[in-house]
Amino acid sequence: MVTEDALLNEAWERLEASILKYGEEPVGTVAATPEAGVKQYNYGHCFIRDFVPSGLAFLTKGRGKVVSNFLIQTLKLQINHNNIEEIRAHMDGARPGIGLMPASFEVEEENGEPVIRADYGERAIGRVTPVDSCLWWLILLRAYTKATGDSNLAHEPEFQEGIKLILELCLVKRFDMYPTLLVPDGAFMIDRRMGVFGRPLEIQALFYATLLAADELLLPEYKIPVHDEIQQRLARLKIHIQQHYWIDLDRVNEIHRYENEEFGEEVVNKFNIYPDSVPTWVAEWLPKQAGYLAGNLGPGWMDFRFFALGNLMSIICSLTDTQQSQDIMNLIARKWSDLVGDMPMKICFPAVEDKEWQWVTGCDPKNIRWSYHNGGNWPVLLWFMVAAAQKTGRTSLGDRAIKVAEKRWLEYKDKDKWPEYYDGKKGTLVGKKAMRYQTWTLAAYIVAKDLMENPQHLEWISFEDFEISGKVEV
Ligand code: GLC
Repeated sequence: MVTEDALLNEAWERLEASILKYGEEPVGTVAATPEAGVKQYNYGHCFIRDFVPSGLAFLTKGRGKVVSNFLIQTLKLQINHNNIEEIRAHMDGARPGIGLMPASFEVEEENGEPVIRADYGERAIGRVTPVDSCLWWLILLRAYTKATGDSNLAHEPEFQEGIKLILELCLVKRFDMYPTLLVPDGAFMIDRRMGVFGRPLEIQALFYATLLAADELLLPEYKIPVHDEIQQRLARLKIHIQQHYWIDLDRVNEIHRYENEEFGEEVVNKFNIYPDSVPTWVAEWLPKQAGYLAGNLGPGWMDFRFFALGNLMSIICSLTDTQQSQDIMNLIARKWSDLVGDMPMKICFPAVEDKEWQWVTGCDPKNIRWSYHNGGNWPVLLWFMVAAAQKTGRTSLGDRAIKVAEKRWLEYKDKDKWPEYYDGKKGTLVGKKAMRYQTWTLAAYIVAKDLMENPQHLEWISFEDFEISGKVEV
């Protein structure tokens, strides 16, 4: 009989085995450990977003060196004024801008020497832009600083410059009217066409956390020129998300009776959402005293799907207000079988099917209903769930989620082999095309267990409520 301790030990062994070395130095973890006879695609790379739970796991064991190595190496891969020509020379026509960080990197050998080769999206399936990489990098840098007490790393001139470039890239003035960050399709964990272009919630929550982290980590000479702009953007973003992304039964009622074609400053239906666009499942599915943030918002477009990472991260970084955070946890508790099911937890709910699947995914067979990004269950979301539960004082929900995962793994560990995702309405089946020994699956388990045991570690990744001061233009 396998025990929880044995599970955790195995997770640690597999995490060790996933370490990617550059020469003698550990610099990251591969996305999935290779399995004989299984095509690896780019899962042998270290992805910036995938490394976050690995990094947090190492920090719980006082192994900050792996994390600082990762941060140093990935900072060198950020496109800057000095390396841009060289990086572009290796690309076939792609021209990503200054400040961008790669989606992933691998270690290759050239003339017997190890070399790091990054992918900025120019090789990735669908040529997607990794917008979230630089956001996660900064969030992890802050977690490292908090966990180790070492602020020297973040204060190094190269790091201060790197943060500045991230801010410049994110805050650059473009055509948009909203305070949200406008991004192309597949710019984050969902890195395929899934109708997640525009202003997806996950990017907004990560952007918000990044602005908070930057304001914390910048030294005065770097901070003074951008501080006011950061504060204004944080305030505008917070108000915008809390007011306009929020969905509960009251809001659905309001939208149901919206007038359209309103012109001018003082209008109620600012984004001209047509009541007919509210899917019928929303009012039937939503319980009272519960709510969530919409997946996306644009002109005439509100994406009513529930996206787990964006909602949980909004709680963790206090982008939602206290009541909203509680209501999201209420939703998860009351819709447990839909959102957690047999494996925490669903990446988004509900899945798109039939004609909608054709339009939204472009007929993507990997993203058929209740699979992969289209309503699959992803164990990596467990750590976000536990962190959000702790942040809201709902620890028992986090505990319950861990027990769900453990129940499955204690019984099926050797068959399941730590898969990337699960399929089905309740997440009962190992994902059709899921990789095995997926690093962030087992790292998330380690982090979730550690958060239960050491709740003080939550502060590495969470943020206090940001208080808006002064006049805000919204
Ligand atoms: C898939 C996921 C992406 C992840 C990558 C490596 O492409 O969608 O979020 O980073 O696999 O695990």
